[in-house]
Amino acid sequence: MSEWSPSSWRERTAVQQPVYDDQQELDEVLQNVALLPPLVTSWEVERLKDQLGAAANGEAFLLQGGDCAENLDECENDALVRKLKIMLQMSLVLVHGSRKPVVRVGRIAGQYAKPRSKDTETRDGETLPVYRGDLVNRSGFTQAERRPDPQRLLRGYERAGLTLNFIRALIDGGFADLHHPENWDLGFGSESQQAREYHKAVHEISESVQFMLALSGRSGEELRRVDFFTSHEGLHLSYEQAQTRTVPRRDGWYNLSTHYPWIGDRTRDPGGAHVEYFRGIRNPIGMKVGPGADLGEIVDVIKVLNPDNEPGRLTLIHRFGQDKIDDKLPALIEAVRKSGQQVVWCADPMHGNTFATDDGTKTRRLDDILSELTSAFRIHRELDSHLGGAHLELTGDNVTECIGGTSGLTEADLKVAYKSQVDPRLNYEQAIETAFLLAKEISK
Ligand code: PEP
Ligand code: CO
Repeated sequence: MSEWSPSSWRERTAVQQPVYDDQQELDEVLQNVALLPPLVTSWEVERLKDQLGAAANGEAFLLQGGDCAENLDECENDALVRKLKIMLQMSLVLVHGSRKPVVRVGRIAGQYAKPRSKDTETRDGETLPVYRGDLVNRSGFTQAERRPDPQRLLRGYERAGLTLNFIRALIDGGFADLHHPENWDLGFGSESQQAREYHKAVHEISESVQFMLALSGRSGEELRRVDFFTSHEGLHLSYEQAQTRTVPRRDGWYNLSTHYPWIGDRTRDPGGAHVEYFRGIRNPIGMKVGPGADLGEIVDVIKVLNPDNEPGRLTLIHRFGQDKIDDKLPALIEAVRKSGQQVVWCADPMHGNTFATDDGTKTRRLDDILSELTSAFRIHRELDSHLGGAHLELTGDNVTECIGGTSGLTEADLKVAYKSQVDPRLNYEQAIETAFLLAKEISK
């Protein structure tokens, strides 16, 4: 294989990249991003890789979740608090139900670039560049808003920094501390069965913590804090390259814009630029695998991405759809096993279950999502494999983007609070419901 460098991907075909009209402006912005301090550190990245190694063996469970795409203008106090809160509440349900450590990873602090099925969009006879996420352009349908603007790379990097700074501060300040019940309260009706189960879990965990502390005579300082890691799709390669650097006293190169970047289902071509870029970084990485995947190709890519079979290095995120998983997943598990590679298996029950309603609104049924998750656990169990994680699109807000759940959202409700400009997310209550199903399945 040819020599790798942070820019060797430029020799390959890079799909899903925006076309900028001012190369000099782009180069200046990228040089600027490259000079800014990193968002994450190599020791955090290595700690996550260790924890993912445990998830590969079934000794921990990865909970990865967040928006399909973050917006630059939603980098805002209350919205971030709610995003962190739903992830912590779900992880509490998982820890309580499964008695396993949970690895918490947000689709956050940099999830700003989106792959799209077409390069352009036409409305009423007018054709403009497609919206590629806030890192690239804006979603409004005017020439000015759709122009890929290099300055947005800088703004995205800075907003990712602000986001992560606030998350770190919340966690340092004891936001995840069970002694602060106000942070653990559910934001919806406490009459439901689900809410009762949830509050029982909070109560039991807090009792066991008190008991352990009394027994050990320790202050519990270490229990006030949790690890929370960041991830995003590593789609925009010149942006990813800008923060790819070496660090003192460690070998190799790290992408320090995030702990855990992933390759999307549309950009995992074995000969393509994304696989070339990803093979050279030391971060743990993910790769999406959809129903169109060729098994031979997947096994080849795995070998390129993880030649030393390093534990925790590679997560395969399968996203087949509830109607295809029975057909597709067993062969994938067998092919990977035959290749001798150890991966973290993670189920994304979102992206194979998207459909459009009659009026063209993109949505997903919670029943389909839960059904794909249940099948994923069952198939891994039957084949003596471990499902080590779940990858979800969700929010801590009461949006109406997915159908179903205990509050009985229907197609007619989608109009009430549909906020996403890209894929539909689970709302707060639907996300908690999903956590209960996960907890039950993990402990089987
Ligand atoms: C996504 O995770 O938002 C996404 C685009 O997924 P996939 O690459 O699996 O289609
Ligand atoms: Co999505």
